[in-house]
Amino acid sequence: MALIPRLRALKNSKVLSQGYLPDKLWFLDEQKRDLGIYLGYILNDNVPPHILIIGPRGTGKTTLMTIFRAELLKTIKKNDLNVKVGYTHAPQTAFSAFAQFTNDVGVDLPTQGVGYDIAIARYEKACADSISIFIIDEIDQIKDINDLLIQLTKRNELNSKVKGYCIIGITNKQRIMSSIDQRNLSAFNHRIINTHEYDATQTYKILSDRVDHAFHKNVVDKGVLEKISGHAARRKGDCRFGLDVLLQAAELSEKYQSDKITIKITDEAIGVVEFKFIYDNIARKTLTQKYLLLKIAINNDIHRPLLFQWYSRVLGNDALSSRRINEYINELIEDQFIERYYVRIPTGKESWLHLFELEPYHVIISIATDSFLSLYGGSLPDEDLDKIQEVKQKFKSY
Ligand SMILES: Nc1ncnc2c1ncn2[C@@H]1O[C@H](COP(=O)(O)OP(=O)(O)OP(=O)(O)O)[C@@H](O)[C@H]1O
Ligand SMILES: [Mg+2]
Repeated sequence: MALIPRLRALKNSKVLSQGYLPDKLWFLDEQKRDLGIYLGYILNDNVPPHILIIGPRGTGKTTLMTIFRAELLKTIKKNDLNVKVGYTHAPQTAFSAFAQFTNDVGVDLPTQGVGYDIAIARYEKACADSISIFIIDEIDQIKDINDLLIQLTKRNELNSKVKGYCIIGITNKQRIMSSIDQRNLSAFNHRIINTHEYDATQTYKILSDRVDHAFHKNVVDKGVLEKISGHAARRKGDCRFGLDVLLQAAELSEKYQSDKITIKITDEAIGVVEFKFIYDNIARKTLTQKYLLLKIAINNDIHRPLLFQWYSRVLGNDALSSRRINEYINELIEDQFIERYYVRIPTGKESWLHLFELEPYHVIISIATDSFLSLYGGSLPDEDLDKIQEVKQKFKSY
């Protein structure tokens, strides 16, 4: 028996990990400038406007804000400004968001047993006359977002003890606006900063910059980065996906005792990351969404109205309204699980749906929908049950 020394393809794995702050944020100059202008208000003792940072997954929103948050804290300290900065990530309720950022600012609030009025009064007493900047990453996770906006935006108009609130929301849901009430929107009066999809050339640039810092020289074979960038670009330039693949490839190269990251290893890494990515994402979807995905997967392509019909036939009285179903479908399209396309017919056009990518989706959908099947399987038509078995059989090897 012998001990095998670790192969050191990686010089610094941290460079590829979540939370690492890169030396350079590429292609975000405009966004940096806008954020710099808005947050620069504090230098004149003015309250910055509310801001929403919106853009597809993995396009640098959190990283951009993390860098600015550090900059804010440095400036506040240096100039001794009465500005408080609180950060919260993916809070589930408006109240927990408020409790988390007051906590981050250093004001402890009981998590239960107090209402907004008391909580806000305590915060304002502790932070009187301050400009209060609240950063809410993944703001779309808050179920009662309107409550938070009502509470905080109205404080800016009322005689509050703080100088003013600035909310910075971050989200990858383009349709976030539709969940905010119209009357809140006008009080919110926010600025929007968009991050955009990166194309394959841009993703290549961002990833190659990281590869230079993460791997030893000449470890990554020719063509590997092009391949990963292409995949990331197809996911609207999701750089996190690309970085995860690189990290996975490094692990596999150790496992295979390879001193290179080859195309073959990369293909395997892409498969592993894709599988995990899809699995995690489907697990977080509602039962109805899993069900809709299941039906689309087993049909390959489906005419949208047929999906509704089928859904209400199987679920009967449990079926949700068609408006709700439409929202769910739109979210699945935005999350790139499914694609919508139009078919021309003599009287106009028809809306059809199909899965964004086929292979791993099929198997995961069948796994993820087991819970659905145990509830509603009995009401599925035989032909669908047969198809599900067929799909599962086909991808059994995964
Ligand atoms: N323009 C860029 N330059 C350098 N690195 C980038 C850039 N854009 C994204 N990245 C890197 O990609 C990874 C994902 O970025 P980040 O977490 O900021 O994305 P996000 O937009 O917040 O995604 P999500 O919507 O999923 O939260 C990070 O490691 C980040 O450093
Ligand atoms: Mg983020």
